[in-house]
Amino acid sequence: MLRRLVQMEKNRRGYQTLSFTLPPKGIRFCTEEWQDDGFYFASAVQEVFRLRELCGLSENTRFLDIGSGQGRLAIGLQAAYPKLKSYDGIDVHQPSVNWCKRHLERQNFRFMHVDTANERYNPSGKHRSAIPLDDNSCDITFLYSVFTHMRLNDVQLHLGEIHRTLAPSGKCLLTIYVEDWPRPEEENPTGYLSELGASVGALHRVVFDRKAFEGACSDASLSVERFLYRSEGVTKQSVYILSKSN
Ligand SMILES: C[S@@+](CC[C@H](N)C(=O)[O-])C[C@H]1O[C@@H](n2cnc3c(N)ncnc32)[C@H](O)[C@@H]1O
Repeated sequence: MLRRLVQMEKNRRGYQTLSFTLPPKGIRFCTEEWQDDGFYFASAVQEVFRLRELCGLSENTRFLDIGSGQGRLAIGLQAAYPKLKSYDGIDVHQPSVNWCKRHLERQNFRFMHVDTANERYNPSGKHRSAIPLDDNSCDITFLYSVFTHMRLNDVQLHLGEIHRTLAPSGKCLLTIYVEDWPRPEEENPTGYLSELGASVGALHRVVFDRKAFEGACSDASLSVERFLYRSEGVTKQSVYILSKSN
């Protein structure tokens, strides 16, 4: 299957012919592009290829997806690595976790609700940060468009948890809005990437000062291995790859 996906990706065609259960369009947290099933599935498979190339993803990986949403990455992983060692998807949004549990849970693919407070996705949450996994238990940690919807003090707590749960040789790939910004963070700054549409509601688009974010990584003993500025085509988020510095 992996070979078939690689071929499809090279030819840029054919994902529609594969039958995978995708979340109904109405429940997807994403911009318009991802409402298209072909785009949605292709984005998941492309992410798997990127994780292979940049983070050493393989069938032996123990994977943690923080903010797993409606299982976009899990769908790509199930297509490419149905026998993946383990996948844990955690999210604060109970209906999304319920959908994933119902449609995507397998012996090696688990989904969990964490009751972490988030003004946008889980306003009545009881905790500040919680990753219900053991120390050093993940080879790859992934957060796609999650720090985009969080304040700096919560990001700091999460970086500490990422460090705790990541294996010594593990890697974390995350996307985020960072700029050389006059303040450490700003929620929904007026006019920022206005071509993507106006910000709607709490924590829609949080922008961090690059030095403040990288300082928080360093405080959590996480080193920046790679930084790709605004590399995400549709959302224009930047990508970081982090590893443990001790
Ligand atoms: C924009 S969505 C991205 C979903 C998914 N990563 C994807 O790429 O399709 C952001 C997700 O992060 C989740 N989230 C926000 N704060 C979280 C936290 N502290 N822990 C776990 N999930 C969180 C939200 O509930 C939502 O599902």
